[in-house]
Amino acid sequence: MDRVLIIGAGAAGSVVAQKCAMDRDTFKHITLASRRLSSCEKVAALCQTPIEIAQVDADDVAATVALIKKVKPDLLINMALPYQDLPIMDACLEAGTNYMDTANYEPREEAKFEYSWQWAYHDRFVDKGITAILGCGFDPGVTNIYCAYAQEHLFDEIHYIDIVDCNAGDHGKAFATNFNPEINLREVTQRGKYWKEGEWIETDPLAIKAMIDYPEVGPRASYLLYHEEEESLVKNIRGLKQIRFWMTFGEEYIKHLDVLTNVGMTRIDPVMHKGVEIIPMEFLKTLLPEPSSLADDYTGKTSIGCIFRGLKDGKPLAKMIYNSTDHAETFKEVSAQAVSYTTGVPPVSGAKMFFTGEWSGKGVFNVEQFPAKPFLEDVAKRGLPWYVLDVADGEHAELFGVET
Ligand SMILES: NC(=O)c1ccc[n+]([C@@H]2O[C@H](COP(=O)([O-])OP(=O)(O)OC[C@H]3O[C@@H](n4cnc5c(N)ncnc54)[C@H](OP(=O)(O)O)[C@@H]3O)[C@@H](O)[C@H]2O)c1
Repeated sequence: MDRVLIIGAGAAGSVVAQKCAMDRDTFKHITLASRRLSSCEKVAALCQTPIEIAQVDADDVAATVALIKKVKPDLLINMALPYQDLPIMDACLEAGTNYMDTANYEPREEAKFEYSWQWAYHDRFVDKGITAILGCGFDPGVTNIYCAYAQEHLFDEIHYIDIVDCNAGDHGKAFATNFNPEINLREVTQRGKYWKEGEWIETDPLAIKAMIDYPEVGPRASYLLYHEEEESLVKNIRGLKQIRFWMTFGEEYIKHLDVLTNVGMTRIDPVMHKGVEIIPMEFLKTLLPEPSSLADDYTGKTSIGCIFRGLKDGKPLAKMIYNSTDHAETFKEVSAQAVSYTTGVPPVSGAKMFFTGEWSGKGVFNVEQFPAKPFLEDVAKRGLPWYVLDVADGEHAELFGVET
């Protein structure tokens, strides 16, 4: 297996294509397809070795099937938007091709993130004898694999997980999002949610806040929000009592978001404007900078990881696993900021795991269901090293003390 078809030549898709093109021993044949051929041409010009490009509208299942039949990939990596997940999975089923993505399906008309739609494909993928690997970006993705590693190698039982996501970078813009603006704003304006003792508990958007001390970055205000990996991790981590997800936002970001929300610019229902139906969030996306355009002046680092509390040999244990990535360094390597980089490198390692058979199985899987160690060794070599820290008594007291 050595043929890959990447769909979506955006900020993260560009990183996937460039990193595959640096490893021709693994990826002998690379095709990048997107809605606009011009997006593919820009990425191809950045690749160290030649890749094929193609135009496709991935909402059109027949067009994607035709492309798959022409390219004959061993794996299709979906780097388009979550709206395209189901049509691309349908195309993979029809053409008999393996599938991978980095974000779960969302219907356009509702900001709702659930694996149920994609998990429902399991039996059909089994019957067809093919594999779907869901959520192989950073979070979801690497964070799930940190959890699998902690379960396999560090703990007997994990009771509490806090996934902590900090972007301490500065892009110099008053307001911009680090990945697709529409998807990002739908994520942060929805109601918050976490899981405790078997129940999902909802909160108002960004209603719970804590200062979290991030490795290599320091303390940052962080907000509890719902993130899709929580849904699969509650099924796949044994003995879990609580899982929460936290993300940092600066004061400027929160101020702009409040105003935009208050005036209705983040609405995703249609409104009439001069006799034409528009969706305010889609219009806002048109005004905001493309995430790929933020890359050249970006400074600072991301710091993303998981903090675990549980038991080992009958004694309480707390550990953290994290990665920190520097925006300026990733720009030097692949002309991309660190959020695109941390999203785009993991699918390349996941594809390698699949090609070598380290990750195998027929049906639909989340990444924590596969062996963690070979993936983590590979992803570190490709640019995302990971570190295990002991969490001493009294550390992260504010985070652990938040009443949820
Ligand atoms: N797991 C993680 O850690 C993580 C983090 C961030 C983002 N993500 C996910 O990564 C994906 C890409 O994000 P991004 O920031 O790279 O977004 P982006 O820059 O907006 O790129 C998305 C690309 O998808 C292409 N596209 C959109 N609709 C399409 C269609 N119908 N057919 C074919 N191509 C289509 C667009 O192509 P054209 O340019 O050709 O129009 C665009 O370039 C999203 O699903 C996002 O949710 C995951």
